[in-house]
Amino acid sequence: MRYFMAGFTLLVVLIVGMAGFRGGMSRKPPIEVFPDMDRQPKLRPQTPNNFFPDGRSSRLLVPGTVARSTPYKNLANAESQRPVYAFEDAPVNTGRISGTTNFVENGPFAVTQPFMERGRERYQIYCAPCHSSLGDGNGITKKLGMAVVASLHDPRIARFPDGELFYIISNGRNLMGPYAAQISVEDRWAIVAYVRALQLSRLASVNDVPEQLRSTLKK
Ligand code: HEC
Repeated sequence: MRYFMAGFTLLVVLIVGMAGFRGGMSRKPPIEVFPDMDRQPKLRPQTPNNFFPDGRSSRLLVPGTVARSTPYKNLANAESQRPVYAFEDAPVNTGRISGTTNFVENGPFAVTQPFMERGRERYQIYCAPCHSSLGDGNGITKKLGMAVVASLHDPRIARFPDGELFYIISNGRNLMGPYAAQISVEDRWAIVAYVRALQLSRLASVNDVPEQLRSTLKK
C-alpha cells in the first residue's frame, strides 16, 4: 500500500506537470521537445531585406525565362495554325499523332540553316560521346566498355519516322537512357534533323545530286 501511494502520487505529479498547464500563459519560452520547423532561416516573399544589395527578399526572373504560357515558335506544319504549348499532348511534345501510338513522319519545326546548326552542336554534345560524330556508334564510350552502341546508319534505324527518333531521344530505348531532362523539345527535334543529314550522307544515291552538279563528283 505504501508503494502504491508513492507511485500514485508520482503519477499525479507527472500528469499534472505535463498536461496540467496546457494553455496557461507564461512569459518564459515553452520547453520544446520536438521543435519541428517552427523557426526557419528563410526570407518571406516580397518583404524588404538587406541580405541582397537591392534590398528585396525576392529575386527577379532570370533573363530569358520562358513562361509556361508561351506557345512554341517556328512550328512549320498544321500545328502552327494554332498556338501549341509545352504541356499539351501534341505531336511536338510526344513525337506521336495525338490519340494514337503512331509516330509522326516529319518533325514539326521549320528546318532552317540555324536549326540544323543547332542540331549539329547539340548532337556533338549529347550523342557523339556514344554514337560518334559520324553516327556509326564508335564513340569514346566504346573504348571505355560500352559494347553495343547502335549505328544510326543501320537501315532499320534510317527507316524510323522522325517522331520515333524524337521518342527515343526523349525516353531512351533498351540500353540507351532518356535525354528529355537534358535537351529541350526544340533541340531534340533539331538533333533529329541533324541525324537525318548524317544518314543522308551515307544513304544518298547519285540521283539525289542535282543533274548539273553530277559531273563535278569524284568517281
Ligand atoms: C550513353 C551513351 C549514349 C548516348 C549519349 C546516346 N545514345 Fe543512343 N544508344 C545508345 C545505345 C547503347 C544504344 C543501343 C540500345 C540497345 O539497342 O540496347 C542506342 C540506340 C540508339 C538508337 C536506336 C534505337 C533502336 O531502336 O535500336 C537511336 C536512334 C539513338 N540511340 C539515338 C541517339 C541520339 C539522337 C542521341 C543524342 C541525343 C543518343 N542516342 C545518345 C547509347 C547512347
